[in-house]
Amino acid sequence: MRGMRTLLVLALTAASLPAHDVITTKLTYTREISRILAARCLSCHGANSSIALTTYEETRPWAVAIKEQVLSRSMPPWGAVKGFGHFAPDNALSQEELIIISAWVIGGAPKGDPALLPAAKTIAARQPPALTTALTVNTQLRLANPLVLAGVAPLPDATISDAKITATLPTGEIQPIVWLHNYQPAWRSTFRLASALRLPAGTVIEASAPLRFALKR
Ligand code: HEC
Repeated sequence: MRGMRTLLVLALTAASLPAHDVITTKLTYTREISRILAARCLSCHGANSSIALTTYEETRPWAVAIKEQVLSRSMPPWGAVKGFGHFAPDNALSQEELIIISAWVIGGAPKGDPALLPAAKTIAARQPPALTTALTVNTQLRLANPLVLAGVAPLPDATISDAKITATLPTGEIQPIVWLHNYQPAWRSTFRLASALRLPAGTVIEASAPLRFALKR
C-alpha cells in the first residue's frame, strides 16, 4: 500500500513538471558552462553582440542551438586551414568541452549556484589584449618599414572560399601566415600568431586571391 502511494505521488510530480525543468545533470551554467563560454565564445557573443551569451538568462534560450552548433563544429567559427601558420589560441573546443556542453543541454541546462560564477575580472583576464591595425593590405603590399606582425584580420565583403596569405622575405624565404577557407565576413576574426613575426622592410605580404586584410601589431 505504502509503495503504491509513493509511486502515485512520484507520477503526479513528474506529470506536473514541464518537460524542460527535468534536470538530469550535475553540470551547471554557473560552474562549468559560463567558463567555457567566456574562454571560447564571448569574444564574439559579448554583451553588445546580436546573440549575447553573457548570462544564464541570455544563454538558456539558445541552449539547443548551442549544442547543435558546437557538435557540428560550426561554432566557434574558424575559417582557417590547420597546419598553415601558427595561431594562439586555436579557438576550437576540446573534446571534453564538447561533451560538457552537450551533457548540460541534454540534462536540462540548469543554472546552478550563482556563487560559483567566475568573477567578471577573471573573464576579462582571459581575453588577450586587443591588437591594433598597423597597415591595411589590398591583396599585396611591400613593407616600407620593418614590422613585428602579431596577427591578421581579413576584411572581406563576401565569403572567402580559398585564400592563402604569405610573407616573402627579402631573402626569398616564404613564411605562411594564414590559409582562409570558407571564411565569412560576419566572423570578424583576428588570427593571432602564436609568436610575432619580425618582418624586415622589403617583405612582400600577399593573398593568393583578391582580398583586403589588416596587419595587426
Ligand atoms: C569569431 C566569432 C565567433 C565566435 C568565437 C563564436 N561565434 Fe557563435 N556566431 C558568430 C556569428 C557571426 C554568428 C551569426 C549570428 C549573428 O549574426 O550574430 C553566430 C551564431 C551563433 C549561434 C546561433 C546559430 C543559429 O542558430 O542561428 C549560436 C547558438 C552560437 N553562435 C553559439 C556559439 C558558441 C556556443 C560559441 C563558443 C563555443 C560561439 N558561438 C563562438 C560568431 C562567433
